[in-house]
Amino acid sequence: MRMAPTPTALAAFEEAKGFMPLDEGLALHAAAEHAAAELGGLPLLEVGTYCGRSTILLADAARAAGTSVVTVDHHRGSEEQQPGWEYHDASLVDPEVGRMDTLPAFRRTLHRAGLEEHVIAVVGRSPRIAALWHAPLALVFVDGGHTDEHATADYEGWTPHLAEGGLLVIHDVFPDPADGGQAPYRIYRRALESGEFTEVSVTRSLRVLRRTGVRR
Ligand SMILES: C[S@@+](CC[C@H](N)C(=O)[O-])C[C@H]1O[C@@H](n2cnc3c(N)ncnc32)[C@H](O)[C@@H]1O
Repeated sequence: MRMAPTPTALAAFEEAKGFMPLDEGLALHAAAEHAAAELGGLPLLEVGTYCGRSTILLADAARAAGTSVVTVDHHRGSEEQQPGWEYHDASLVDPEVGRMDTLPAFRRTLHRAGLEEHVIAVVGRSPRIAALWHAPLALVFVDGGHTDEHATADYEGWTPHLAEGGLLVIHDVFPDPADGGQAPYRIYRRALESGEFTEVSVTRSLRVLRRTGVRR
């Protein structure tokens, strides 16, 4: 039976800084819950922690299935979050270092949500972490850098670890360039064209794909 996030998790999600609207968040939660339950408690992997908004929902689903979320971020912000860019938040700059640091906000968010013990935060560049990774995953959520370089590296680095039947979730998929950048859309197309994935659901810019085919 599908469950909604707990009221505490939902309240923490709505309070957290971040870029995930509620309807997409609920679709992410449903995918996470399904993948964790179906795949015998394999871990869930997120690229793009930021301040932990989407991590809360993944962690809530992981807790219900007795598994963990691994969330990856260098915590220095994406290109569009740097000073002078559209999504910059000056309150997230470390005054001593003079650079973005979303790790303290992320830790506070998870603590408030009571979900710390269900999350393993890995601080570093996604492709370097993926290169060291060996465990099978129930779900891969791609919401890191939105340039072609980063999105492609995330796709190539993490999808090989997705178990058969596991879910690939991609955020900010915009078929029309007028709605947003095209890099997430291109990896979404690439996944479908590979023959290894079939589409499960579409919730605005959030796409859920199931890994059904064998790797070529
Ligand atoms: C769009 S935000 C993630 C939003 C978050 N999922 C939410 O729900 O609010 C993208 C994040 O990806 C991180 N990021 C970008 N490129 C990265 C890379 N190559 N490796 C690790 N993290 C990266 C940035 O630091 C930023 O925090």
